[in-house]
Amino acid sequence: MHVAIAADHGGFELKQQLVAMLRQEGHQVIDFGTHAPERTDYPDYALLVGRAIQQGQAERGILICGSGVGMSIAANKLRGIRAAVCHDTYSARQGVEHDDMNVLALGGRVIGTALAIEVVRAFLSAQFLNRDQYLARLQKVQHMEQELKE
Ligand code: RB5
Repeated sequence: MHVAIAADHGGFELKQQLVAMLRQEGHQVIDFGTHAPERTDYPDYALLVGRAIQQGQAERGILICGSGVGMSIAANKLRGIRAAVCHDTYSARQGVEHDDMNVLALGGRVIGTALAIEVVRAFLSAQFLNRDQYLARLQKVQHMEQELKE
């Protein structure tokens, strides 16, 4: 799968681990940085990953900051991006299956590498379930995004 990934300084170390794991497992990874541990601003990275998905360069995105919260807030400002912080495999899988989540946010100061790897695997191996109730809810979310911005 084509996966876009990025982190700020709070997620830098975990991102390095995840990029290595993803490449080892055969994914095509676009690593938007950060490439050094110096302080950065998470919205800049959320924008890069979100744009990659919007433009079709990547099917899924992974964003890592200290908590995952800032990244998810920023990514969700972008049209068509459905991001959530998940630190367990159930949410990572169900977020895709029921909610068509396309960006996983992680907290590099919250979750350990071994669990993060399992969460990422759950996220990437899941597919949206094209059932009526999930489609109807997704369409309501899309309506909110397109028509109810005020
Ligand atoms: C950086 O110190 C931290 O605020 C950031 O990585 C993130 O946790 C924000 O949500």
